[in-house]
Amino acid sequence: HLPHSHHQPDFTSLRELPDSYSWTPKDDILFAAAAAPSPPTAVDETIPFIDLDHPDAANQIGHACRTWGAFQIANHGVPLRLLQDIEFLTGSLFGLPVQRKLKAARSETGVSGYGVARIASFFNKQMWSEGFTITGSPLNDFRKLWPQLHLNYCDIVEEYEERMKKLASKLMWLALSSLGVSEEDVQWASLNSDSNWAQAALQLNHYPVCPQPDRAMGLAAHTDSTLLTILYQNNTAGLQVFRDDLGWVTVPPVPGSLVVNVGDLFHILSNGLFKSVLHRARVNQTRARLSVAFLWGPQSDIKISPVPKLVSPVDTPLYRSVTWTEYLQTKATHFNKALSMIRNHK
Ligand code: SIN
Ligand code: FE2
Repeated sequence: HLPHSHHQPDFTSLRELPDSYSWTPKDDILFAAAAAPSPPTAVDETIPFIDLDHPDAANQIGHACRTWGAFQIANHGVPLRLLQDIEFLTGSLFGLPVQRKLKAARSETGVSGYGVARIASFFNKQMWSEGFTITGSPLNDFRKLWPQLHLNYCDIVEEYEERMKKLASKLMWLALSSLGVSEEDVQWASLNSDSNWAQAALQLNHYPVCPQPDRAMGLAAHTDSTLLTILYQNNTAGLQVFRDDLGWVTVPPVPGSLVVNVGDLFHILSNGLFKSVLHRARVNQTRARLSVAFLWGPQSDIKISPVPKLVSPVDTPLYRSVTWTEYLQTKATHFNKALSMIRNHK
């Protein structure tokens, strides 16, 4: 078992990066290709920026999902006020004294609450970040964090999740429509409304100012296990996406816009036409960074498999059918298998 406990270092007092936070390419060996130094990318090359009000938005989204697995959106319909509220809530949460945050620490087996990045156990080194995961109602945790104001903060989360659910569903069907796929082609979707087949979690992230950002990792390279992830980032850059031909590419924050990532389950649903995007978060020396990831996928009893229409009659589907839970288990097992192989060869 790795020494990743729930206690965070006091980031603010460190002048130098402790060894346990100093990454070398071999610490990211599961993504060795991606971790290798990449050539400087073409100037300004980054993920597409799409106006959802544009008449061709569906095709632009489809194209972005096939080439990058990520895009940024404007005119998404989520009020700026709500984005500001969720950013304020996130800043306020991570700004609480450590002792208070630990009152809502994620339990050994639990998913919700305060702690290190959820992928921490798959890496040798620690990440320069702290996180807070919300699944279901945050009421109990929030009461511990903010004895006075928790109800206000619960309202913000609820409204944010409502808006994000609608947006995620809209984006998924827009992307699929570009492949000629509609709700009738997806059995579990045509039989249930979104509110019955979808579920979501909210992941709040804080990347404190870092004394030696070049050697630190805010959040190590990973793909999301979702159908789609909708990410809000404050106005501090840090998110990077990987492309085989370009290397790591920074996604610049654009005020009021949102980043959308194709997750593994959408990759499967589209029979590999849409690319689950490898991404990570870097940190910097002068500005703290906040992000809020809305992780969206199917309810646990729903099996995801390639849409039949997207599988040519002569081919077999590239992926077998899985539920979200099964997928997460398989991914963790493979991660751990690969990790123990690497560790045993040291
Ligand atoms: C994430 O991948 O969950 C968050 C990335 C970010 O903070 O930009
Ligand atoms: Fe992610």
